[in-house]
Amino acid sequence: MPSVEIVEVGPRDGVQSVPTFIPTEEKLRLINGLLDAGVKRIEIGSFVSPKAIPQMQDIAEIISSLGKREGVRPMTLVPNLKGAKLAVAAGMKEIIFVISMTESHNQSNVRRPVAQSIEELRALLEEVDAAGELRMRVDLSCAFDCPFEGRVPESVVLAHIEKIVAIRTGMELGLCDTTGFALSSQVRNLFGRCTHEFGDQAGWAFHCHDTAGFALANVLAAYEVGVRTFDASVAGLGGCPFAPGATGNVATEDVIYLFHRMGVDTGIDLERYLDVCGIAAGIPNGVTGGHVRHIPRTRIVSSIGGG
Ligand code: COA
Ligand code: ZN
Repeated sequence: MPSVEIVEVGPRDGVQSVPTFIPTEEKLRLINGLLDAGVKRIEIGSFVSPKAIPQMQDIAEIISSLGKREGVRPMTLVPNLKGAKLAVAAGMKEIIFVISMTESHNQSNVRRPVAQSIEELRALLEEVDAAGELRMRVDLSCAFDCPFEGRVPESVVLAHIEKIVAIRTGMELGLCDTTGFALSSQVRNLFGRCTHEFGDQAGWAFHCHDTAGFALANVLAAYEVGVRTFDASVAGLGGCPFAPGATGNVATEDVIYLFHRMGVDTGIDLERYLDVCGIAAGIPNGVTGGHVRHIPRTRIVSSIGGG
């Protein structure tokens, strides 16, 4: 049976823009519920400036309270070397470093030029290497569209990727539609060019938001050109505080349902997952999206059976 890998990003990308602080126990309830439903890769938060994103200030507590589970790969996002040092010190084994593909978004998000972020990656890898066996992912924000500069040319993204893989091969690179404006043709073309030009120098993942309602179509487009790792957020929770107008990620339950309908395994129990959607949807002042959680459960179950 063909399969894909879902990376649950709700506890980081979904939660970071919620204006009211979510108590740590509630975040842990959400994370544990997602893991109980079969999620294996999960972004549990970020090591960022508490002034920039106050919602993430309890990340160290989340890590220490989260028991180790066999086969589960928790990840934390870091915007700089300091974040990586904190993540390593907290015992994280998988780190996501974020670099925007446009100057204005990188400036708005992490307050430095793109070239400086790429140089910081070099220093960060030294830190990570010294800590032993860690996995690295680099999220390439605004790989298709930028809230300030509009459509991002493929050539710009490819030039940045060339510099990143020259620093290190073998990392996972996430092409991010941060604003949710990408067309499926852009998704197909960019992944096509990336895999053609950089082939096995990196692993590839797709991260998308649903601002214009294109997200699920774009997931399918990425799947059709060979992408097998997809970021998604529970109940479509989210938005980006540094990308005005962007809404949440594609809803994880919609992605699971789509793939299960297609006979593609995700390793996640959809019915159990749908129960967890209620936790995310109940977060005060959270903005949610998605479709599948509104469909009667019996209809979902019978349709996956081939009906
Ligand atoms: N974790 C925790 N604290 C951090 C930090 C990190 N990774 N990086 C910096 N800080 C602290 C500094 O210690 C300093 O604290 P102080 O004011 O108490 O001395 C403060 O944050 C400012 O540090 P500075 O290096 O001057 O950073 P900055 O103000 O230029 O902000 C970032 C840069 C990257 C730290 C900040 O913009 C940020 O955290 N952005 C988050 C981006 C993000 O997560 N976006 C969404 C996901 S894509
Ligand atoms: Zn995002």
